[in-house]
Amino acid sequence: MNLLIEIDKKGKDKSTLNQPQSKFTIGNWELPAGNILAPMAGTTDSPYRRITRRFGSGLLYSECISAEGLRRSGRKSLELVKFHPDERPIAIQLFGSEPRQFAEAASIIAEMFQPDMIDINCGCPVKRMVSRNSGGFLMQYPELIGEIVAETRNATGLPVSVKLRTGYRQPDDTAQETAVIAEAAGASLIAIHARYVRSSWSSNADWQIIGDVKEAVKTIPVVGNGDVRTWEDIERMKTVTDCDRVMIGRGARGRPWIFSADPYIPTDREKIDVLLDHYILMLDYMPEIHAVKRMRKHFNWYTKGMPNAARLRERVMKIENPAEVMEILVHFREEIS
Ligand SMILES: Cc1cc2nc3c(=O)[nH]c(=O)nc-3n(C[C@H](O)[C@H](O)[C@H](O)COP(=O)(O)O)c2cc1C
Repeated sequence: MNLLIEIDKKGKDKSTLNQPQSKFTIGNWELPAGNILAPMAGTTDSPYRRITRRFGSGLLYSECISAEGLRRSGRKSLELVKFHPDERPIAIQLFGSEPRQFAEAASIIAEMFQPDMIDINCGCPVKRMVSRNSGGFLMQYPELIGEIVAETRNATGLPVSVKLRTGYRQPDDTAQETAVIAEAAGASLIAIHARYVRSSWSSNADWQIIGDVKEAVKTIPVVGNGDVRTWEDIERMKTVTDCDRVMIGRGARGRPWIFSADPYIPTDREKIDVLLDHYILMLDYMPEIHAVKRMRKHFNWYTKGMPNAARLRERVMKIENPAEVMEILVHFREEIS
């Protein structure tokens, strides 16, 4: 399928989807060309990351993990760090409040898991995090983010990236200043979700800030994020902001093929094939009952808009037996053909 879009901005008049992406070397690896799956706690676990990688997703991120939890060797936190070799290069994302805390947590995982990068979460708006001076709270303190980057890097020798928002509260855009400070402190990549921490999801992302950050940062890649759902959106974000890679969150739920270099919409049957593969990876990775429960939301996302899926949703929501879920998927797939 060829979906070239004519966009006449900044002198570009053809699709950029198939043009080579700019090259960046980070530590001892090269930033993959593919667009990037946004970290989403509770969704972008190792099985889902691997499925997106099959379609071409670039750098991957873990879900956000508590630096304090890691320092205390919390089992749940360590469990979230686990990744498969297929997922490299992968950034492990930490949330916390103090440079020391990040540096110690990163040292623990550097030794145990040797990830390719440590990412500092500076955007999470969840109250329980912000009230503990973590996540999005940090957007109010650019210098502190710089210290976190420098200490984490010095402690581990690993590349460090930051995931920013536009700012904490409108109209305080701190992203550009923070990006410059982070780069000077040794950050290897900046991702930016173009929304304020205190903005609700109902407001649209304003990509202007991504372009501003791209202009201000000298040598490291800038990744744009916010409200990208389609290949046209990918195209538009690259053209409007000049960002080096595009990061996709909610638009990738149940749609891992969004990472294909060429626009490609699978048939319903192909979608269920992918879902089956995804489920098999889940069963392999987590306790079966967790896989069954987590599968429920993936089933809804993958089958959105499919005729006959609605009647199965209710059943899938109740089943606790892993083999029964598999049976439903296989039957559904046969019915579609
Ligand atoms: C359910 C959910 C969980 C998220 N968890 C994280 C997270 O763990 N770390 C993080 O940096 N961002 C997290 N985000 C934010 C996304 O990474 C992304 O920045 C945001 O969804 C905007 O991109 P989108 O418009 O493509 O969805 C989460 C978003 C959602 C919807």
